[in-house]
Amino acid sequence: SALQKPTRKYTYREVDESEVVSALEDIFVIRPQTLRNICKHFVDELTLGLKEDGHTLKMIPSYVSHRPTGKETGSYLALDLGGTNFRVCEVYLEGDSKVRLTQKKFTIPDYAKCGQSDVLFDFLADSVLTFITENHIPTESDIPLGFTFSFPVNQTAIDKGYLMVWTKGFDCKDTINKDVVALLNEALARKNVKVHVTALVNDTVGTLMSHAYNDPGTFVGVILGTGTNAAYVEKVSAIPKWKGGPVESGEMIINCEWGAFDNERVVLPFNKYDQKMDEESTNPGEQTFEKMISGMYLGEIVRQVIVELVQRRILFGGVSSPEIETPYKFETAYMSRIERDHTSDLLDTKMVLQELLNIPYPAPRDRRIVRRICELVATRAARLSAVGVAAVVTKMERVEDGCTVAIDGSVYEHYPHFGNRMKDALHELLGMFEENVNIVLGKDGSSVGAGVIAALA
Ligand code: GLC
Repeated sequence: SALQKPTRKYTYREVDESEVVSALEDIFVIRPQTLRNICKHFVDELTLGLKEDGHTLKMIPSYVSHRPTGKETGSYLALDLGGTNFRVCEVYLEGDSKVRLTQKKFTIPDYAKCGQSDVLFDFLADSVLTFITENHIPTESDIPLGFTFSFPVNQTAIDKGYLMVWTKGFDCKDTINKDVVALLNEALARKNVKVHVTALVNDTVGTLMSHAYNDPGTFVGVILGTGTNAAYVEKVSAIPKWKGGPVESGEMIINCEWGAFDNERVVLPFNKYDQKMDEESTNPGEQTFEKMISGMYLGEIVRQVIVELVQRRILFGGVSSPEIETPYKFETAYMSRIERDHTSDLLDTKMVLQELLNIPYPAPRDRRIVRRICELVATRAARLSAVGVAAVVTKMERVEDGCTVAIDGSVYEHYPHFGNRMKDALHELLGMFEENVNIVLGKDGSSVGAGVIAALA
């Protein structure tokens, strides 16, 4: 009948394709049982990090102990450093849970990311000056500024924190162990900019606070962007290492720095491609969880797989290109584009491979394999992100009562199916309670949150 597929003789290459794909699946697919094991270990690690310093999860008290009411008002500056872009914003809190935002984005030049500390902080101060000048912001009264600095800092006050280690490809050696608020204030003074840093904020804490400004049920803030991390509301009584004295609300927002989860590599299925990417990164051995999830690394993992398959003459007839051999040339944005390609011959995938990666003739079979690699790497990332969320919600004992989780970042916002793949994994982890975890997009959270926290400070 017409419904019956014509029988086809498989050529050697086509058999090869399914073999290749199933070998990759063995390496990248995370089964439900593994997911649950990782989650269990995650909850233990969250608890351990709260106990004392020196564990894998840094679990940093943010010195933010009040969630907003939505009635806070006023105008604040926010400076947001931590992803691919750097932003300066004016955040206007209207007092009825509404916010207005004026912002300017700057790209951080590579020389500022990896040079002398002063070069980076002077660049930040200059950008603030540009913003204030362009927007005619009056500076007579030393404007309060919330500084979103999204790296692990040992915070000792709402406006004091010492950089522990750089992440996400930043590497200015002489910033380590320095108070980044002092560095910024000094740079602002050097440029004669009349602005004063009143709060130091992690982007996850900002995202949580900014969403809580209009939804008091928000207990978790997550970033899935260039890097990944989460912050959540913890009971002070559950933080044995807290030595900061009594806290009126009894609550403290904790920055988990979950990117470092399983740096020991005991539960995560870190494979040979991850290993290779890690060895060639600016911070080998660190940020293991982040490297399997976030936008900075996903494309690079895919590239590692492709390079190996080309070497084994399984892809592109064994012909490589300088682009495909260059680290980080295969961007995570290409993966989203390839996964969005619904043309029957994967024509857009062909364009990406030809025009952006200089592969002369990617056969349809090669395009399908590349697409499948992207799907596998991104699905693994989404499922691991879900593990993190499930672990935090479990640690908070809010699985049954439920809560809102605000997520920001380019991967969550723009990568196709990312949210749904997370939801599937959450279901495997929490069963019917998955519905209690209300995941929402918290756009611009890291900047707005800095304003909200500056208002509270
Ligand atoms: C990295 C940083 C962390 C930040 C996250 C998301 O993991 O160490 O502080 O929250 O990236 O930007």
